[in-house]
Amino acid sequence: MELKGVILAGGLGKRLFPLTKVTNKHLLPIYCKPMIYYPIQTLVDAGIKDILIVTGGRHAGEFLRLLGNGAEFGLKHINYTYQEGEGGIAEGLSLAEHFADNNRIAVILGDNIIEKGIKKYVDEFMAQSGGARILIKKVKDPQRFGVVEFKGRKIVSIDEKPKRPKSDYAVTGIYMYDAAAFNIIKTLKPSRRGELEITDVNNAYLKRGELEYSVLDGWWTDSGTFDSLLRANNLVAKKQKTENRKRNSPVL
Ligand code: DAU
Repeated sequence: MELKGVILAGGLGKRLFPLTKVTNKHLLPIYCKPMIYYPIQTLVDAGIKDILIVTGGRHAGEFLRLLGNGAEFGLKHINYTYQEGEGGIAEGLSLAEHFADNNRIAVILGDNIIEKGIKKYVDEFMAQSGGARILIKKVKDPQRFGVVEFKGRKIVSIDEKPKRPKSDYAVTGIYMYDAAAFNIIKTLKPSRRGELEITDVNNAYLKRGELEYSVLDGWWTDSGTFDSLLRANNLVAKKQKTENRKRNSPVL
């Protein structure tokens, strides 16, 4: 069975207005590259070569101009699809059903940037008989995210942006699903914010007893608010400079 990659880069980026007035959020700079480069690289580094980008809004054509067929990432081809409006992350994901074609998928939100790789989590997921795997991370501001509740080491619930978080572990925007995800999405109803929520997909797997998790190693950030966009830029700049220094320093 193949593992295919899906990058969700739809939505209108309203929280970043006016930065997103004349461009798509995922094309904004994170230090030296457009935001979308980072999730693509994360999937490619995990050995995933068959990738779909779900985009939307008024600037979707720019993705094609920027990325073409992905030669810069060593890819032969990139698939694209278009989400009308912003009906939520799970709605964006539903557009990947045809592409997934009953294979398993690794999903990454287009504004999620990480320090290290996801290869080991992908391997763990492929060793599962099915179901889903999420990556969680301890954060200082859990109320901004999907937050897990633990009983011992077991996740017992996930709340989307809770006022009173039941732990300080956020669900990152990196999810791995079997083909059942698409049937689950068909049963979802829009949340209070009018979106099909990815947290509801994860809770459905949890109810079936088919949700596994790993704690993500290295830093993780989203970049969809002014503060997180700035944080992402600073983290990437620091990482890039450290790597450059290592590359240029003579081997002793
Ligand atoms: O970053 C992780 C968090 O992402 C999770 O902890 C939350 O559980 C999850 O709901 C999500 O929270 P946000 O409210 O921060 O997601 P946001 O609306 O900012 O969307 C994140 C990305 O998802 C965005 O960069 C593009 C994609 N997206 C979003 C929407 C609403 C779509 O492709 N289509 C959409 O309709």
